[in-house]
Amino acid sequence: MSAVEPGGGPRSGTCWLVTGASGQLGRSLCAVTRQEGIATVGVDLDELDVTDGGQVSEAVERFRPSVLVNCAAFTHVDRCEEEPATAQRTNGDAPGLLAEAASKTGCLLVHLSTDYVFSGATPRPIAEDAAADPRSTYGRTKWAGEEAVRRSDCEHLIVRSQWIFGPGINFVRAIYNAVLRGESLRVVEDQVGRPTWSRALARGILQAVRAGARGDLHLACEGVATWFDLAVATVEEAAHRRWIPPVPVEPVLTASVPRPATRPTYSVLELGRARGLGVRMPHWRTALSMYLDSEEWSDA
Ligand SMILES: NC(=O)c1ccc[n+]([C@@H]2O[C@H](COP(=O)([O-])OP(=O)(O)OC[C@H]3O[C@@H](n4cnc5c(N)ncnc54)[C@H](OP(=O)(O)O)[C@@H]3O)[C@@H](O)[C@H]2O)c1
Repeated sequence: MSAVEPGGGPRSGTCWLVTGASGQLGRSLCAVTRQEGIATVGVDLDELDVTDGGQVSEAVERFRPSVLVNCAAFTHVDRCEEEPATAQRTNGDAPGLLAEAASKTGCLLVHLSTDYVFSGATPRPIAEDAAADPRSTYGRTKWAGEEAVRRSDCEHLIVRSQWIFGPGINFVRAIYNAVLRGESLRVVEDQVGRPTWSRALARGILQAVRAGARGDLHLACEGVATWFDLAVATVEEAAHRRWIPPVPVEPVLTASVPRPATRPTYSVLELGRARGLGVRMPHWRTALSMYLDSEEWSDA
């Protein structure tokens, strides 16, 4: 179990307990809260399996966090199609166990969810109260997890985000590495979203909690892009930073690269509620440069 630092012991009343703490967002969130002087306990699968109700209630009883953030999830979108039972247990059922434990101790549960709960079939930004219409096992199980949290009587904030890059393996890193190897790329140009740096999202979550947000909240970086746009921007950054020639990027259609899970096509989360709360997110292009300059890029 990772250290509680700084700002006092776990029972000080200002402790955040973060599950999935070795994942992209979990790592960013623990770093951001600790920088802010908040005592933070980060736990991942080997220390707290969120699908085990006994482990969940024991950890929440032990640390008595004021804020419990669930970053744990089965995020391999295509593998969810092959392992639906694991996806349901992790994404669909575990949030209910966390909500029950949060309800017993009276802490705020911040639960992370995704744009995949929507179909992405309509070319308009998606507001928090839009009808869910998931088209994949990942999306359906994440929606089930949201519903489990909403059904509970715990105080909660459900944060939906999208297209996350941060410490760990992700699209940006894959593209950057391809540039270093001099490989040409084919990238889909017909899926639209908001690329989001996990560090910016972590700061946004902290701001939203401090602003007293409850219910559903969409949080992602400003601006919209296709995966092709993000790839081209990453190639430019890599070539510029390493003084190497850029590699060609060919735009292709989703239909030409079939995958097990259906992806939302126009998946742009509406950010009006976050802006109204005073939560400021950087533009994704700025966030990409900041990410590549950060220790999250070099440490991963
Ligand atoms: N990545 C994205 O683009 C994206 C977009 C929208 C929303 N989200 C949501 O944001 C949250 C964080 O995503 P992320 O990108 O940080 O994911 P991530 O990097 O995959 O991190 C998830 C972490 O949860 C752990 N985990 C898996 N099963 C667990 C279990 N049963 N108990 C405890 N921990 C478990 C994983 O461990 P292993 O690696 O060992 O499995 C991993 O360390 C998730 O709720 C995700 O659905 C992500």
